[in-house]
Amino acid sequence: MGKRSVKPAAIRPQTIALATPDSVPAVTTSAIRVAPSPVLPVIQAVSLFEAIERVEGDTLELIRENLGECRRCRLHKQRNKIVFGVGNPRAELVFVGEGPGHDEDVQGLPFVGRAGKLLTQMIEAMGLKREDVYICNVVKCRPPENRQPEDDEVATCSPYLYRQLDVIAPKAIVCLGGVAAQTLLKTKDPISRFRGTWFDFRNTKLLATYHPAYLLRNPNAKGEVWKDLQKVMAHLGLQAKKPSR
Ligand code: URA
Repeated sequence: MGKRSVKPAAIRPQTIALATPDSVPAVTTSAIRVAPSPVLPVIQAVSLFEAIERVEGDTLELIRENLGECRRCRLHKQRNKIVFGVGNPRAELVFVGEGPGHDEDVQGLPFVGRAGKLLTQMIEAMGLKREDVYICNVVKCRPPENRQPEDDEVATCSPYLYRQLDVIAPKAIVCLGGVAAQTLLKTKDPISRFRGTWFDFRNTKLLATYHPAYLLRNPNAKGEVWKDLQKVMAHLGLQAKKPSR
């Protein structure tokens, strides 16, 4: 059977609104002023996602089964557990991280360490529970010493992520950090250039924001992330959780 020809796909930012310079408290339910700003281009090549055929009748169980005890890349050598993903298989919102860290590798679950606790707080601030959303990563095995996954590791593992996203078909995808965003948007641009921008990703809205681990090192960036999450909430029709007294 001949290969489907794939036209280069340009992913265009739909909107971008940069925050006013005023600093915003880390978690607040008050309205946030945003100012329109010019659209920033993200360099696009052919999207790998576009090149991946949809798998007829695919399910999360089948994807997990296909992954098996994966040895397709070097990351399998030091891993303890494969971290496939967790959450609501019909979630309207999917968070995509980079790859498992130590705690995730031990438990076989994504975002259960310090960064994961912060992600849980972010989810709850959005008025959701962890069980409402789906959480997964670009690579399913822990890179040694928590280094960034290499290009060939991402290329080998990411088709399973694309299938997960296809099956779940959420209303919004939030990329946590540069690796997730650069993988799905096929760009090398730094995330600081396009975070908070909506992209149309195969009929799903996708937005990138900073990784919770980055926020642990740079708490001042929490306000920016909260603004990004508020855009996601507006898209999903969610109300922020009232701060507890
Ligand atoms: N960081 C990630 O990107 N993913 C995890 O699952 C945990 C930490």
